[in-house]
Amino acid sequence: MTATTDAQVHRGAPAGEPLLEAKDIYAGYLPGVDILNGCNLVLHPGELVGIIGPNGAGKSTLLKALFGLVPIRAGSVTLRGDEITNLRADKLVHRGVGFVPQTNNVFPSLTIEENMQMGVFQDPKKFASRFEQIVDLFPTLGDRRKQRAGSLSGGERQMVAMARALMMDPKVLLLDEPSAGLSPVRQDETFIRTRRINKAGVSIIIVEQNARRALQICDRGYVLDQGANAYSGPGREMMNDPKVIELYLGTLATDVEADAEAAAVAERRTVDQRDAEGDATEG
Ligand SMILES: Nc1ncnc2c1ncn2[C@@H]1O[C@H](COP(=O)(O)OP(=O)(O)O)[C@@H](O)[C@H]1O
Ligand SMILES: [Mg+2]
Repeated sequence: MTATTDAQVHRGAPAGEPLLEAKDIYAGYLPGVDILNGCNLVLHPGELVGIIGPNGAGKSTLLKALFGLVPIRAGSVTLRGDEITNLRADKLVHRGVGFVPQTNNVFPSLTIEENMQMGVFQDPKKFASRFEQIVDLFPTLGDRRKQRAGSLSGGERQMVAMARALMMDPKVLLLDEPSAGLSPVRQDETFIRTRRINKAGVSIIIVEQNARRALQICDRGYVLDQGANAYSGPGREMMNDPKVIELYLGTLATDVEADAEAAAVAERRTVDQRDAEGDATEG
C-alpha cells in the first residue's frame, strides 16, 4: 500500500465512478513471481487512456490481467463497481469488455467476414447488424469481406482484429500496441481509427510503444515502469513534462524521428525514380 492519494495516482481523471478500475493489483505468470507490483488504473466513461513505458514494464501483462488471462494474486478489478477480478475472458466479453492482443490477433486462413463472425460466436444473431455498423466505420472491410485475412497487409490485419473485437459491441476496449510493426502512415491511420472508435462511444485503454503519438490522442496517460505506476496525467501535459521526456520519451522520440526520416528518404527515391523513368520515355 502506498501513501499517495487517488488524485496523484490518477492525475487529471474526471470525477464520478470509473467504468473500469484496477486497484493495487499484483499478477504474474509463474507462482511467486509478480510482474505487476501494485498497479492502479481507472478508465472513466468515454475516455481514451494510454499506457506507455519501457519494454518489459508489464504493459501487456496488465491488459491480459484485466482480461482474465493472467492470474491476479492481490488487488481488485471492478467494472461499473462490480467485481470482475479473475473473471474468465468469455464472461468479460459478455459484460462488454473487448481485447485486441498485439500479435496473432486474426485467423489468417479465414476471410475478413469469417473473422468478424468469430467475434460474435457467442451470439451469432448479432452478426448482420453489427457487421453493417462496423463496415460503416471501416468501409474497406466491407468491400473486401471475401478476402482471406492472411493475404492482408499488417495495417489491414490490425483493422480486422479491431473490427472483430468490436463485433460484440464492447463498452471497454483494450488495445495492445495496435501500431506496432506498421509504417508511419499506417500507424497514423491506426491512431485515427482508434480515436474514431472512441468518439463512437467506446472507452479505450491503449498500450503503445509509440508513446509520443499515443499521448497526442489520449485524454490521459499512465507510465508503467517495472510493474508499477510511475507517472500519470493528461496526455498533452505528459508530453511536455521534462521528467517524462527525459525518462520515457527521449529515445523514443529519436526513434520516431529516425522512422520519419527513413520514410522521407524512401519517398524521395521513388520520386527520383519516377522522374528518371519519365525522362527515359520522353527520350
Ligand atoms: N508468458 C509469459 N510467461 C512468463 N513471463 C512472461 C510472459 N510474458 C511476459 N513475461 C514477462 O513479464 C514481464 C513483462 O512483460 P510484458 O507485460 O510483455 O511487458 P511490456 O508489454 O511492457 O513490454 C517481462 O519480464 C516478460 O519477460
Ligand atoms: Mg507488450
